[in-house]
This record gives sequence, structure tokens and C-alpha cells, in this order.
Amino acid sequence: MRSRTRRLASFVLAGAKEAGAGVDLIDLADLQIVPCTACESCSLDGTCVFADDFSAAYDRMLDADGLVLASPVYVDNVSGQMKVFIDRLADAIHYQNFAGKYGCSLATTQESGGDAVVDYLNHGPGGNRPGRIGSTRSRAAARPCHQRSAAIP
Ligand SMILES: Cc1cc2nc3c(=O)[nH]c(=O)nc-3n(C[C@H](O)[C@H](O)[C@H](O)COP(=O)(O)O)c2cc1C
Repeated sequence: MRSRTRRLASFVLAGAKEAGAGVDLIDLADLQIVPCTACESCSLDGTCVFADDFSAAYDRMLDADGLVLASPVYVDNVSGQMKVFIDRLADAIHYQNFAGKYGCSLATTQESGGDAVVDYLNHGPGGNRPGRIGSTRSRAAARPCHQRSAAIP
């Protein structure tokens, strides 16, 4: 699938690999994850009622020493797939199950919203980490880049 966000995330992982890290890319577009229905099963007994791809992805995140969260800006927010995934992580976020991991977040955008999406990803699933990578405009070649941006053709 053609995705600027996936490309940007791949660049970040390539850098981490070059520095000696083992890396693993989870692309939500490859997974079937249904929206949370607020049944509260996860907070009551620690298990989710849905037998979809969520648990395997969550386990891979728990196994990791660090997390890089990435989303395109879709109508001023994260993508629908990312929001559904984050909602399913609500219990893990509430109980700070990712505390102590290294990490950062990134976003791609046509024009605006990148900073807000990065802040959102850092605040919730990122456990309020300061590791901002920044945002990038997808047509950056024709326009001046944001100060923190990296251009993706
Ligand atoms: C449904 C949709 C909504 C979008 N909303 C915004 C937006 O609110 N602001 C913006 O600057 N760009 C917006 N864009 C542009 C995307 O953020 C940009 O093209 C991004 O790099 C797409 O990443 P992807 O190739 O990984 O899907 C939107 C694109 C789509 C498809």
C-alpha cells in the first residue's frame, strides 16, 4: 500500500537499526481491528472480548523496549485505524503499561495538524513522552518545509 506515513516510519526504523536496534513494523492497514464497544471487560478482568488482530499487536508493543507511533493527519486528527487501535489500548494507557519505554511519535500531513497529532500520540499511548520527531508535509518539495519537517517526495 502506498503510504507516506509508512515510508517516514520506515526511515526512522532504518535509523534505529543502523544504531543497533532490532526493529519491527506494525502496519495497522494490514490488520483487522474492530472498534471498542465499551464493554469494560478489559478493565474488569484484563481480557478483551474480541478475538481479532489487536492482542498480537499489543503483545509486540509490550515486548518492545521502545515505540515509534506514526499516523497521517486525517481531518485534523489521527487516521481512523489509529484511533480505533488507541481506543482498544485504553486500558493499557490507563494503567501506564508502556511506562519506561523509549519512544517518539511522528505524523505526515498535507498542510496542517501535524503538531497536534504528534502531541496526541505522545500524550496518550506514548505516556507523555517528550520525544517529538515532528511532522512532514507530503508536498514539501513545492513549498517551504515546516521548521521541524523532513521532506518526503
Ligand atoms: C481522509 C483524509 C483526510 C486528510 N486530512 C488532512 C487534514 O486535515 N490536514 C492536512 O493538512 N492534510 C490532510 N490530509 C492529507 C494527508 O495528511 C497527507 O496526504 C498524508 O501524508 C497522507 O499519509 P498516507 O500517505 O500515509 O496516507 C488528509 C488526507 C486524507 C486521505
